[in-house]
Amino acid sequence: MSELRYDGRVAVVTGAGHGLGRQHALELAARGAKVVVNDLGGDRAGVGASAGPAQDVVEEIKKNGGEAVANPDNVATVEGAQAVVQTALDSFGKVDIVVNNAGILRDRSFKNMSPEEFDSVIAVHLRGSFLVSSAAWPHLREQGYGRIVNTSSPAGLFGNFGQANYATAKMGLVGFTRTLGHEGAKYGIKANAIAPVAWTRMTEDLLPADAAAKLGVDKVTPLVAFLVHESNESTGEVYTVGGGRVARIMVTEGPGWGKNGDLSVEDIRDNWEAINVAEPHSVFKNVAEQMGPLNQQLRA
Ligand code: NAI
Repeated sequence: MSELRYDGRVAVVTGAGHGLGRQHALELAARGAKVVVNDLGGDRAGVGASAGPAQDVVEEIKKNGGEAVANPDNVATVEGAQAVVQTALDSFGKVDIVVNNAGILRDRSFKNMSPEEFDSVIAVHLRGSFLVSSAAWPHLREQGYGRIVNTSSPAGLFGNFGQANYATAKMGLVGFTRTLGHEGAKYGIKANAIAPVAWTRMTEDLLPADAAAKLGVDKVTPLVAFLVHESNESTGEVYTVGGGRVARIMVTEGPGWGKNGDLSVEDIRDNWEAINVAEPHSVFKNVAEQMGPLNQQLRA
């Protein structure tokens, strides 16, 4: 079987000083990519900053014979995100791959969550992914090639106590990814998202203690590496990955119920069961396709 290589490709990995991002950077570099290792170097809540973590990963890559450069900027600011991409252009002359991975946690029950706790988490995960992708986009478009992976989360897709900020950002990334999939299609740009589970400093007190060995970051990176390879044809998709299992996650719609003419509140009550039927469900490629069943109903 042929090995997947990234020779000649330039990758930007955000939040690559620790955890999943570090593993993505190491793997891509080991397979020939030139890598920008971005990391602000703060703590799990995003407090503080240090150039150390990104630099350490760069040294590790170089020690293994790879090519990498560190960038310590904050992806949540316009200037920081531009500087991340500029580092790739200045050091390696282009950018082909963007892995939006940087993230922080500010968990709090919704009752106690402050606007600052909400905004700061949205800023890093959602706005940061937008800003870095946006800085790279003109270059990807111009060269007619690009691969983007955004990092969502099962907590965002399915909901989790104490994570209204995080879940909002992570579900937002699904809409973002799907839209980039559509807008990038003409330009050879594929954008996908992952919803990982792995043992990192972000999850070490949330996952069961015996999970460390089974939920290594090395069981997430192969999916990311595949999605950013030139042979990957999928776009706009979301995959959950962890512990050796990978599955596609879909936004689906049930068969629905409808009537022509007036619609009353009582109609809704009386047909609630039919409205909530889940099977057979549909997975639509885009909003035009999703309008299909409605158009059918309007023609009836
Ligand atoms: P981690 O805390 O080890 O890594 C996150 C990295 O992002 C850190 O090195 C941090 O310094 C960096 N970072 C934070 N804010 C930044 C900013 N503004 N600019 C640049 N860098 C910044 O955590 P982990 O687990 O590796 O998380 C990576 C991504 O995976 C995150 O987006 C996280 O939400 C997501 N994720 C992780 C899961 C897991 O099970 N570990 C589950 C679901 C999602």
